[in-house]
Amino acid sequence: MGSDDKELDDIREKLKATEKALVQSEKMASLGNLVAGVAHEINTPIGSIYSNSDLMVKALGKLRDLVDEAPGLSEQPDLERVLNALDDIGRVNQTACKRIVSIVKSLKTFARLEEPECRRTDVHTEIENALTLVHHEMKNRIEVVRDFGELPAIECYPNHLSQVFMNLLVNACQAIDGKGRIRIGTRSEGPNIIIEIEDSGRGIEASHRDKVFEAGFTTKGVGVGTGLGLAISSKIIKAHGGRLDVASKVGVGTTFTISLPVEGPIKNRQERADPAADC
Ligand SMILES: Nc1ncnc2c1ncn2[C@@H]1O[C@H](COP(=O)(O)OP(=O)(O)O)[C@@H](O)[C@H]1O
Ligand SMILES: [Mg+2]
Repeated sequence: MGSDDKELDDIREKLKATEKALVQSEKMASLGNLVAGVAHEINTPIGSIYSNSDLMVKALGKLRDLVDEAPGLSEQPDLERVLNALDDIGRVNQTACKRIVSIVKSLKTFARLEEPECRRTDVHTEIENALTLVHHEMKNRIEVVRDFGELPAIECYPNHLSQVFMNLLVNACQAIDGKGRIRIGTRSEGPNIIIEIEDSGRGIEASHRDKVFEAGFTTKGVGVGTGLGLAISSKIIKAHGGRLDVASKVGVGTTFTISLPVEGPIKNRQERADPAADC
């Protein structure tokens, strides 16, 4: 009787966690659509601003040539100051535009989460996309060390992978109080690739280590943590035929290690053997 009750309780708990994960994935899907729409809308105006500031810098160069040639004009100190200020503004605008363009690009990639396409992917590009999106969490606080090795392009669902990198990077940022360091290491190992995300954060207590992959487990306050990041990430990695492992030392830091087969999930390998199958 007692054990039956426990079993029922366990099932109830699992159901609750699954329901939570489902609601979350629904939310993510609609958020994805919204973000894709916004990113698309921003693209055109920012493209205009970018090309205009390019034109402005070029026009300024011409103007400067004209001033230099005009007798007496180049000795005007005010004119020189105005031209220099405009030059600086043009350059800052160009840098700012480039940054917006790269954020929009990363958002678009992230938003294509529902895209069911499995394809050859450069993992480093996906990591860079994820880094662009979590940049605001790291700014002036966390040093990112890229320890990238040579990697073959792998067969995978790129948007799902990029979600995993985002989840792990956000967790790493949230584990670091004040200043710290995140090291991202990549290497090739036989038929697999290995990606390590190592942080200098507070670490995971031994008693929590087995629970962190459970849906709904969070040590963060209400409204901060959903407890779904690692559950979803581990599901995605397993679906790729890979592994997600954690090693941690309290007060020193945490390393999440992803291992992924270069040739993608076994299911896809079998489908590829069929010439009619796409991926
Ligand atoms: N890099 C990390 N350093 C320390 N603790 C971590 C790290 N990543 C995850 N955790 C722990 O695992 C828990 C679950 O993580 P996650 O599934 O992403 O949910 P959430 O971030 O919403 O809490 C976190 O609440 C935290 O206690
Ligand atoms: Mg998280």
